[in-house]
Formats: sequence, structure tokens, C-alpha cells
Amino acid sequence: MIEMNNITKVYQLGESRVEALKEVSISIEQGEFISIMGPSGSGKSTLLAIMGCLDVPASGTYLFDKKEVSNLTDDELSLLRNEKIGFVFQAFHLLPRFSALENVEIPLIYKRIPQNERKERAKACLEQVGLGHRMGHAPSELSGGEQQRVAIARALVNSPRLILADEPTGNLDSTSSQEVMDILSLLNSEKKITVVIITHNTQVAERTKKVYHLKDGQFINESN
Ligand SMILES: Nc1ncnc2c1ncn2[C@@H]1O[C@H](COP(=O)(O)OP(=O)(O)OP(=O)(O)O)[C@@H](O)[C@H]1O
Ligand SMILES: [Mg+2]
Repeated sequence: MIEMNNITKVYQLGESRVEALKEVSISIEQGEFISIMGPSGSGKSTLLAIMGCLDVPASGTYLFDKKEVSNLTDDELSLLRNEKIGFVFQAFHLLPRFSALENVEIPLIYKRIPQNERKERAKACLEQVGLGHRMGHAPSELSGGEQQRVAIARALVNSPRLILADEPTGNLDSTSSQEVMDILSLLNSEKKITVVIITHNTQVAERTKKVYHLKDGQFINESN
């Protein structure tokens, strides 16, 4: 599904030049469940952003479903991001004035899906993450773990084949972290969704099937 070869990323800020990624190569098959660990500043979020086609590398090749991403048009890129990839972030990024149900509906509004179908699909995704009984709650009326589960439901609403999660349990206590990992594990094992998560937590990483370690913009040994 994903084939990255010698990906580099350089940030130039005035005089200072940061090589955030130095010739990173990774291939991920459909159905894999992997985690990426590494110290702060090692390039994890940079790599995930490139994987999610939110950012472009300075050099290297990136094939998604055997197609070179840099050759895609803007329309093809947004289609890929919207239809094939679901994003989950540490800070949930829910809209505060909207209910859980409405937050999950948002990606479908962009696609001009009619309201009835929208509600049905959003409801099904919330039920999938165990929040069928919290659909009318605003984010402020939900626990952190519940908010992250709403964010996962929102990531699921377009039936993605890949979920990219940047420290999804970073703001959660250990019980909520376990719940979020239960859901991601289930989506991987039952729905065959490919899941890539960044984490600082070894207990979280242990629940994935393969752990990669980044350091100074390069992978060190692979474990599991
Ligand atoms: N927009 C930017 N402009 C300049 N430098 C950046 C930018 N984004 C990231 N960097 C630098 O690139 C390097 C990698 O950053 P990145 O965010 O990928 O690290 P990370 O591994 O996700 O860290 P953390 O665990 O703290 O989230 C860091 O040295 C960072 O300072
Ligand atoms: Mg990061």
C-alpha cells in the first residue's frame, strides 16, 4: 500500500537548516498495524504528514497504491486524503459548538452527502466506537477518551483503508488509552484497516504488530 524510498525533508529557517528526515525508507502492506516511536524532534510527525499526503518530501519516492504521489494532481491528492486515509491527532480537533454526531458528519458535508444518509453513517461510526449513547453531547460534555473516540469515528466515516494517528493516546489516562487501542486493534483485525500510530508509550506500541524507531530523522532497528 505504502512504499517510501529515501525520503528526505529539510526545513530551512533563515540560517538554520533542519534535516527532519534523512533518506527514510519504509513499506507498509495493506492490513498492517504498526507503531513509530522515537524521541521528540526525531521526525515522526514529519513522516506521518508525508505519509498522509499533507506534506511533500524534498527528495525520494513515495508510492501509494503503486502510484507516485508527487505525480498526482491536487484533485487526485485530496481524493486520496479524503477517501482512503483517516487522520487522528493527539488533541482531538473536534469542533466545540457541535455535537458528537455533527462532528462525525462533517467530512460527509464536504462531500455533499444528503442529510439522512449523513446521520445514518455518522451514527453507525459512533456506535462502532461505543458512543451510541453520547451522540448529542458536545465535546466539553465528553471525557478525553470519549472525545478521541469521536475523532476516530470521524476518521472512519469515509471508510478509509488507512488510519494515521499522531500520538492518539498522548492526552489520555491509561484506561482511556487502552480503550482507544482496543478500537484501533479491532478496526485493524476486523475491518482490515491499515493502522499507523506514533506513540511515546511502550504499552501502546506493544499492542501493534511491528514497532519502528526513528532517531535523528532515520530508522534504527525494527522490532517485534
Ligand atoms: N514547520 C517546521 N519548520 C521548521 N522546522 C520544523 C518544522 N516542523 C518540524 N521541524 C523540525 O523538524 C524536526 C522533526 O520534527 P517532528 O515534528 O517531525 O518531530 P516529532 O518526532 O514528531 O517530535 P514530537 O515527539 O515532539 O512530536 C524537529 O527538529 C523540528 O524542530
Ligand atoms: Mg510529533
